[in-house]
Amino acid sequence: MKHLIAPSLLSADFANLQRDIEMINNSEADWFHVDVMDGVFVPNISFGFPVITAAKKYAKKPFDVHLMIVNPERYVQEFANAGANIITVHYEACVHLHRVVQQIKSTGCKAGVAINPHTPVNLLKDILVDLDLVLVMSVNPGFGGQQFIPQTLNKVRELKQMANQIRPELIIEVDGGVGLSNIGSLMEAGANAFVAGNAIFAAPDPLQMIADLKQVEVG
Ligand code: DX5
Ligand code: ZN
Repeated sequence: MKHLIAPSLLSADFANLQRDIEMINNSEADWFHVDVMDGVFVPNISFGFPVITAAKKYAKKPFDVHLMIVNPERYVQEFANAGANIITVHYEACVHLHRVVQQIKSTGCKAGVAINPHTPVNLLKDILVDLDLVLVMSVNPGFGGQQFIPQTLNKVRELKQMANQIRPELIIEVDGGVGLSNIGSLMEAGANAFVAGNAIFAAPDPLQMIADLKQVEVG
């Protein structure tokens, strides 16, 4: 499978959201990455249902919704109603993670779990069989434009090994500081989906940057 590119709407120009959505529609990108922050789980607040519902009207690609919120089970159904296709919750935000994952699946969405940079991948061992996707955070969540944490490469390698045994179809997505300088080594390590905010939206030609990220291949 060719790797997937998910531009992060967090880095879009919210005053020109429709324009930026059309740009992604017309690009080689695969998904829209939608970062929801509650100001509690992470030290930032992004946007919620009204913005997602409005964006969904114009978007022609799946919504990969990354919930950086506490007690996500309270809102899973509402995010599904707002147009999510994949819902990813944080390992660190769920006491009853297995229940939340089943809840996500019952809405018809694909289920993902995100892990912060300090969370070891082996903690996912017993939930992996139930997951469609694991989102490996390569920055501390909360803000776009941060620097990639290099230790992520080892985590991706370890997760890929685990997935090969338990859940070979697992999508391994990396989020934070991803760009042309590190996407190749992340692919080599076993990741196959990539969020990019700053790398795309701060590029002189975002459309071309998406094409460049999509074109990277490993031997
Ligand atoms: C960070 C978010 C990311 C962010 C990535 O908390 O989860 O999705 O938008 O942005 P860049 O690619 O700029 O690090
Ligand atoms: Zn994200």
